[in-house]
Amino acid sequence: MTDNPVFCALDTQNPMRASQLAENLSPHIGGIKIGMEFFYAAGLAGYQSLAANGLPIFLDLKLHDIPNTVAAAVAALCPLQPAILNVHAGGGLNMMRAASKAAKDTAEENNLTAPLMIAVTVLTSLEDEDLNQIGVSATPHDQVLRLADLAQQADMGGVVCSAHEVEALRSRCGPNFKLIVPGIRPAGHAKDDQKRIMTPEAALEAGADILVIGRAITQAVDPVQAASDISASLQSTKS
Ligand code: C5P
Repeated sequence: MTDNPVFCALDTQNPMRASQLAENLSPHIGGIKIGMEFFYAAGLAGYQSLAANGLPIFLDLKLHDIPNTVAAAVAALCPLQPAILNVHAGGGLNMMRAASKAAKDTAEENNLTAPLMIAVTVLTSLEDEDLNQIGVSATPHDQVLRLADLAQQADMGGVVCSAHEVEALRSRCGPNFKLIVPGIRPAGHAKDDQKRIMTPEAALEAGADILVIGRAITQAVDPVQAASDISASLQSTKS
């Protein structure tokens, strides 16, 4: 993967718009993230035309089902060669184990590179009250740590978490466990529906590996300028 930690979330159903954005943004980002919205609307053909652009793809389908079904879905997706693929940690230890094994086995059998398998911990749109409503009495912070421990036991390569858990997870899970962080907002930008947010610079300083940034780039008046400003500010954070 590239040095640039920014994966731009192309949350659109329109493959032409996604390809255009990817092409224009490519000098300023490390990869692109596409999720359910794009994949369900544009399908394999849309995926493949986007992949032709050459940027690493985080295929954010957040798989969540019984172990056998998730393993089969991972095996079906591996030939698309996403750089990163994810499942919900809430699917449990056995489901995550089945997913990471399916990725390794399918890659080996087909002589492919296995995607980095990532577990989604607690969505960055959820706070204490939201967790309480679904019967989780732990705070988002504690729930993220608990699910990250499970993900590590299941041989997942890392987790999706909010920037607020990055420091704790980095010391708990070690330097090689990848921390992928959405809910990123440049200073002064609207929160939208995200709750646990942080600026790109602060998230990187805290120890994030990959920053998923969507609307702050794609909805900007000038998306290329927005991506370029973010990548410049991250360069100066690193140096
Ligand atoms: O526009 P914004 O920067 O908020 O986009 C964030 C992206 O990250 C969205 O595509 C969303 O689906 C995704 N995401 C998230 N929280 C998670 C996992 C993924 O916001 N926990």
